[in-house]
Amino acid sequence: MVAVSLNKVIKKFDQTEVIRDVSIDVNKGEFCVFVGPSGCGKSTLLRLIAGLETPTDGQIMIDGKDVTFADPATRGVGMVFQNYALYPHMTVEENMSFGLRMNNAPKPQIEEKVTEAAKMLRLGELRKRKPASLSGGQRQRVAIGRALVKGAKVFLFDEPLSNLDAELRVEMRIEITRLHRELGATIIYVTHDQTEAMTMADKIVVLRDGNVEQTGKPLELYNNPANKFVAGFLGSPSMNFLEGKIIKNNLVMPSLGNLIIKKNYALDKNISKITVGVRPHDIALKKATTGHKIEFVENLGNVSFFHLRLPDNSFLIVESSTKLAFSSQDMLEISLKEKDVYLFDNKSGVRLNS
Ligand SMILES: Nc1ncnc2c1ncn2[C@@H]1O[C@H](COP(=O)(O)OP(=O)(O)OP(=O)(O)O)[C@@H](O)[C@H]1O
Ligand SMILES: [Mg+2]
Repeated sequence: MVAVSLNKVIKKFDQTEVIRDVSIDVNKGEFCVFVGPSGCGKSTLLRLIAGLETPTDGQIMIDGKDVTFADPATRGVGMVFQNYALYPHMTVEENMSFGLRMNNAPKPQIEEKVTEAAKMLRLGELRKRKPASLSGGQRQRVAIGRALVKGAKVFLFDEPLSNLDAELRVEMRIEITRLHRELGATIIYVTHDQTEAMTMADKIVVLRDGNVEQTGKPLELYNNPANKFVAGFLGSPSMNFLEGKIIKNNLVMPSLGNLIIKKNYALDKNISKITVGVRPHDIALKKATTGHKIEFVENLGNVSFFHLRLPDNSFLIVESSTKLAFSSQDMLEISLKEKDVYLFDNKSGVRLNS
């Protein structure tokens, strides 16, 4: 069942179109992540769903009801912002119960909801504290608690972890995923961090410049990107992109010393230039008498990233187990498997092979 549905939504600020004809369905209980680079329209989409902005055109449905022009307070959504937006002069429990108190809810009901949320979020001990005396992760949980207590049906998160240090981010990632499982709530989560998207989402919506580039399960998008943008956005380090030519139905890569991948690539005759995509972990290296040199190495302990300088002055990044020790003097031969090669139209970036 669909919980939130955007139907051909357009948003303009003055004459600038920042959301262009976006249609997305988020199912009930789904953890849906909107991901994309800065300025692509992620926050604007969330604000449209929350009712903090009104679309220029199109329709927004929540739980089967048209809420396109509905008051934010009536939509049943709870929003958690990057800076948490807690009231500094209120305690944890006052912050969490604020919405219910404003609605003059009965005291026992408020107490029950706050106790339940505090337990779920492990905030019991901190109920009388004020935000200034809490850690980033604890403040984050109070902000989630506020949405919980309000009885939100849909939770909207806007980059909620970007203010936290790396270790706490991992912890909160797990925490929010756990909460999602326990609550069975519908979550729409905005981030520009592809790792968050890959690890947390049931469904990822990749956005670029106000458009949806592709929607799907994390591994579907990773293994089967529809275009060069999605291919380059998901995965770390990013996919390598190289020039390619189809000669007699075989793929030839000039920047890799005319490396040939034999396959009967029957492509549209109108496509003359191709971009070849290869993930860093799909490239094998071997010492040889001719080949490519290592410009520098990033050693991460369990793996290393070798940056090879190519004749056209670009870099090729290769991920390899550290045990494979190469020196900067070595000449390295590159090999690729046909199944690991992605072909994209040079102009449109659309994927050509599947
Ligand atoms: N109130 C506004 N008035 C005019 N332009 C706006 C307004 N709000 C957002 N924009 C523009 O709309 C575009 C999308 O902004 P938005 O905040 O949705 O991006 P984002 O994907 O959330 O980016 P980030 O990752 O940096 O938070 C940007 O070009 C931004 O400058
Ligand atoms: Mg934003």
